[in-house]
Amino acid sequence: MEIQNAGKNPVRITDTTLRDAHQSLLATRVRTDDLAAIAAEMDQAGFHSLEVWGGATFDVCTRFLNENPWERLRLLKKLAPRTPLQMLLRGQNLVGYRHYADDVVRAFIHHCAECGIDIFRVFDALNDERNFETSFSAIKECGKHIQASICFSLTGPRMGGPVYNLDYYVNKALILQDMGADSLCIKDMAGMISPYDAYDLIAALKKVLRVPVQLHTHYTSGQGSMSYLKAIEAGVDMIDTCLAPFALRSSQPAIEPIVVTLQGGARDTGLDLGRLIALGRHFERIAPKYREFRDDTKMAVVDTAVLVHQVPGGMISNLVSQLKQAGAINRLQEVFDEIPRTRRELGSPPLVTPTSQMVGVQAAQNVLVGRYKMVSSQVQDYVYGLYGRPPMPIDPEVQKIALKRYKRGNQPITCRPGDVLEPEMEKIRQTAGDLAKDMGEVLICALYPQTGMQFLKWNHGLEPVPKEMKPKTLEDVKNEDEIVAKALASMRAGIESE
Ligand code: CO
Repeated sequence: MEIQNAGKNPVRITDTTLRDAHQSLLATRVRTDDLAAIAAEMDQAGFHSLEVWGGATFDVCTRFLNENPWERLRLLKKLAPRTPLQMLLRGQNLVGYRHYADDVVRAFIHHCAECGIDIFRVFDALNDERNFETSFSAIKECGKHIQASICFSLTGPRMGGPVYNLDYYVNKALILQDMGADSLCIKDMAGMISPYDAYDLIAALKKVLRVPVQLHTHYTSGQGSMSYLKAIEAGVDMIDTCLAPFALRSSQPAIEPIVVTLQGGARDTGLDLGRLIALGRHFERIAPKYREFRDDTKMAVVDTAVLVHQVPGGMISNLVSQLKQAGAINRLQEVFDEIPRTRRELGSPPLVTPTSQMVGVQAAQNVLVGRYKMVSSQVQDYVYGLYGRPPMPIDPEVQKIALKRYKRGNQPITCRPGDVLEPEMEKIRQTAGDLAKDMGEVLICALYPQTGMQFLKWNHGLEPVPKEMKPKTLEDVKNEDEIVAKALASMRAGIESE
């Protein structure tokens, strides 16, 4: 796409409004109709890419929206043919929550490419490069762009320490480049990267890598826009932003102020501010339909807790509800104190789905029941090596306890986790039978055996779609407001007449 008035070395922008932004703010609930309505205009804006798919969209479409995610992708491709479409892929976990067999990974990626994905942003929760092997080779087979992603993690308020230091990231980046990555992304999913760390990290990566470098952050800790500016000064090639109505809080920094900040300089994006503001109006207009999914419990836009203990926001809310259920919310501080210890004993994994849940639940159980008196089957799988190799060795004592009565044995595997999984596609085809009409539908069953099959029954009219899954219209929202306003008015009138 030609961009006029850009600087000599313009920062290129991946827009996340159609995926990560509403995943972060509105529980991924924005429907295809509302995305499609603006896709053609988004295509004209001059973005480097549009992140439109992957992450939680696939699960939410089938589980909560009764929408076929493949149809969403095909439609967006048709409406936005000029700008590369991008997805977030959880490596061997694809868009699910466990490791899938290699044949599922290959089939899934081929189908994504056929339906319109140009750039695959691939990450692994443990940054274990072996979990990228199969997806990388499948993406290459399709002739598409591999963006390797490294999860940004910390063990203190700033980058450094024994695990997540500069060398760690640089070494990982070099390995992923050698494995065939076409670009590299630092994926700061919890929004924790500090501006000067962003500068040091991007400068170091730019020095050693041939491929372009992208930074992905969230506004969560309040440092996001500052970190982008320092990353831009350090030479970052691409950044991820979204349109203002869906920006800030736990979402991406907004694009509009960045465009103005860079105007007239060497890194001027060349994007048209007026056009961006016009695009934003669409999202402002449709947002009321999704207001029930917005977290309006706090005044603060910034999550100050993450600055103190580096525990991602989502993990904290999970812990709070877990402790409330157990009637033990008074022990929250003890659990917070336990998290760093449990995490260290489990090999200091990045705190991202699914490792954040594993560490959080285990830390809570360590406090409530006694240290490693209870170990979930998920943590057993993890200790056994089924998720890959954590950055540091797992504590040998913890390993022994966790695998004591484990079904697969008490000697952990050291090979690539994908190597111990039998092919799955043939079995899934048989189980799905006539219910799955095409490859896309077979893959829905492959990813989510229960909810996927249920979706196909709804979608093919074999079972009635639950009432609460019906899309909400702006008319519905207006009616709701009118009912509330009327009730309030009559209540007030009652009080006044007394
Ligand atoms: Co993100």
